[in-house]
Amino acid sequence: MAETRVIDPQAEVIEATPGAIARAAGLVRDGGLVAFPTETVYGLGADATNDDAVAAIFAAKERPTFNPLIVHCADRDQAERYVAFNDQARLLADTFWPGPLTLVLPRKAEGGISLLVSAGLDTLAVRVPDSPIAQALIRTAERPLAAPSANKSGEISTTVAMHVAHSLPKAGVLVLDGGRCRLGLESTVVDVTGDTPVLLRPGGVPEEVLAALVGPLGRPGNGSAPRSPGMLKRHYAPSIPIRLNAEGGRKGEALLAFGPNAPRRALNLSRKGDLQEAAANLFAMLRLLDQPGIGCIAVMPIPDQGLGRAINDRLRRAATPPDGADRPPAWNGEQRDDWNDERGPAVPCTPLPDVEQD
Ligand code: TXA
Ligand code: MG
Repeated sequence: MAETRVIDPQAEVIEATPGAIARAAGLVRDGGLVAFPTETVYGLGADATNDDAVAAIFAAKERPTFNPLIVHCADRDQAERYVAFNDQARLLADTFWPGPLTLVLPRKAEGGISLLVSAGLDTLAVRVPDSPIAQALIRTAERPLAAPSANKSGEISTTVAMHVAHSLPKAGVLVLDGGRCRLGLESTVVDVTGDTPVLLRPGGVPEEVLAALVGPLGRPGNGSAPRSPGMLKRHYAPSIPIRLNAEGGRKGEALLAFGPNAPRRALNLSRKGDLQEAAANLFAMLRLLDQPGIGCIAVMPIPDQGLGRAINDRLRRAATPPDGADRPPAWNGEQRDDWNDERGPAVPCTPLPDVEQD
């Protein structure tokens, strides 16, 4: 029998026996949250194809912004359903998977992964964890798992189950206890969408080891990199203008509504005013309205609390595109401090210079 320790009425830590993994897999299929060990750090996982479940991850982390998440797969074949591999990506995957390497690749539209996972981007981060528990969970759930590190926003990643329960006591998450993570350091994140792989985050696979296989890695903003950070489409923005805090739509505009007091015909992020539902719908609805013939997307006010803060952060940035004349300070050089992967060329890669606070 698995031993269960109740830390808080809403956070349950359970030894990762086959029975517990089966229960956790059922929870994932039902849209729930499961924290699970990987060889790097604990992940806070949910069905990556379920918008609402993915929104629940952001709510649990209490993150004020939407940072794109890694999709955890059982093997390369599964990952190939969601992203388009090139030769270099295949070489890296076949050499380092399962293991602590995350590859950023073009998203396949037909893959069925929630747009919220990659915050509306046209790329997706994928990784195959080398942990029997993570593997068993993904295979039993028969779902790709979107999973950031299992810690509250602003805290460090967790490497033992108890720390997950302490960091996320109110998240209503089931924590599979698999002991201490072998590496205790996050995966290395590499963007393989261009000709030269770009190191986005140092981590478990040392840069030298990667370079021995594929040559020197570029840095975001470095001349050898395929794109400068400003050109990396990290922040999805519709191609048409956005007007925020709109009480209603004007001529030529499409209204993106929120709450019960909105015109019936408008697309509504959440008619019942539920911020998690709104987060789940945000990117899909923005894309739906991003069409020729629509002059502007007018968005009704979203309460600036809980997940509403992340929604507003994203809407504000979408309303001011990076190449706009009057970009806000947050856009200058994209040096946002919540982008932990932007460490620049001067930072040594192993060991990690500081802890990730995502
Ligand atoms: O070891 C790990 O990677 C752990 C375990 C749970 O797998 N996960 C983890 O996830 O550290 P998270 O969400 O804390 O960090 C993911 C990193 C972030 O730096 C994020 O910006 C980057 O991956 N990332 C995810 N998708 C991306 C994308 N499409 N483009 C660029 N960066 C991306
Ligand atoms: Mg993190």
